[in-house]
Amino acid sequence: MDIKIVKNTNPKEKPDQSNLGFGKYMTDHMFIMDYDAGEGWHDARIVPYGPISMEPNAIALHYAQETFEGLKAYRTADGGIQLFRPEMNAKRMINSNARLCMPPVPVEMFIEAIEALVKVDADWIPTAPETSLYIRPFMFANQGQLGVHTSKKYIFAIILSPVGAYYANGLAPVRIMVEDEYVRAAQGGTGFTKCGGNYAGSLIGQEKAERLGYSQVLWLDGAERKYVEEVGAMNIMFKIDGEIWTAPCTGTVLPGVTRDSMIQVLKKWGYTVREERLSIDDLMQAGRDGKLEEVFGTGTAAVISPVGMLAYKDEKLVINNEEIGELTQKLYDYLTGIQWGRIEDEFGWIRKVQ
Ligand code: COI
Repeated sequence: MDIKIVKNTNPKEKPDQSNLGFGKYMTDHMFIMDYDAGEGWHDARIVPYGPISMEPNAIALHYAQETFEGLKAYRTADGGIQLFRPEMNAKRMINSNARLCMPPVPVEMFIEAIEALVKVDADWIPTAPETSLYIRPFMFANQGQLGVHTSKKYIFAIILSPVGAYYANGLAPVRIMVEDEYVRAAQGGTGFTKCGGNYAGSLIGQEKAERLGYSQVLWLDGAERKYVEEVGAMNIMFKIDGEIWTAPCTGTVLPGVTRDSMIQVLKKWGYTVREERLSIDDLMQAGRDGKLEEVFGTGTAAVISPVGMLAYKDEKLVINNEEIGELTQKLYDYLTGIQWGRIEDEFGWIRKVQ
């Protein structure tokens, strides 16, 4: 792919690495390319980060034809730069786009665009412990028209943000509220895609949770509000009586890259992993019986996030004394060890950028 590069002549000052938070700062450049039906992708370019101009009647603004991805670039101790399973993100975006009637970005093109942009903004990759460069590819329908039809024009863009921990308290266990009123996804819908609309529809649950003192929402299935599915910004796993349970990816759950990676690691370590439906009643009962040993979220942004409390209706279940579980810590250390190049990548998950 031919990528034109226009350097930013007015680079910003880099933020303090000890207080990055998540997604607050953007780097100096962004990648953009255009799609027109009949012509395909064209005009790939890396330009200074800045506003994108759109027609007020662009389809994305009215009918939410939009998808996105999230992955990270890591700076290794020897000064290298590496990505974690970027082809998984590329393939997931192709699947999301197919559901939203949007054109695919071929896997190699997706990765090439990321690598080119990361190289241009390489000095933005933070080096402080547990920090990384969050990569946000996204695509939206840019044809101007008010009829509800598939767009004939799209923009695919990538922006970068140096980040620390997703949650304000780092690896400290989070408290999660089980949502029993609103739903996130239903069979046949868009739950398995990474589209902005899924997140828009879930904000009301997130607001409610935050108002009540919780960090995130645990969503139940859309048909019966009975089975646990996923959390707002991550998949979720439960260690019950020595076995790991997580919701199956059967259409309503996001097929997380970290989720898939942890399932492979857990199996390699000899754990039984049950990708099966688990009812909230059985989960709460396991907690009451002292069998719910650990709960943790998995996600690119959140990495491995211990859960210390689950609140469902009037009951508050405290998990592992609101302390990080042994397995949760072990998974976190192993995954981040591979990502930052501290331990050997037995699975072949790392892609070196330089
Ligand atoms: C990610 O983990 O990369 C996500 O996209 C989750 C969230 C920040 C939307």
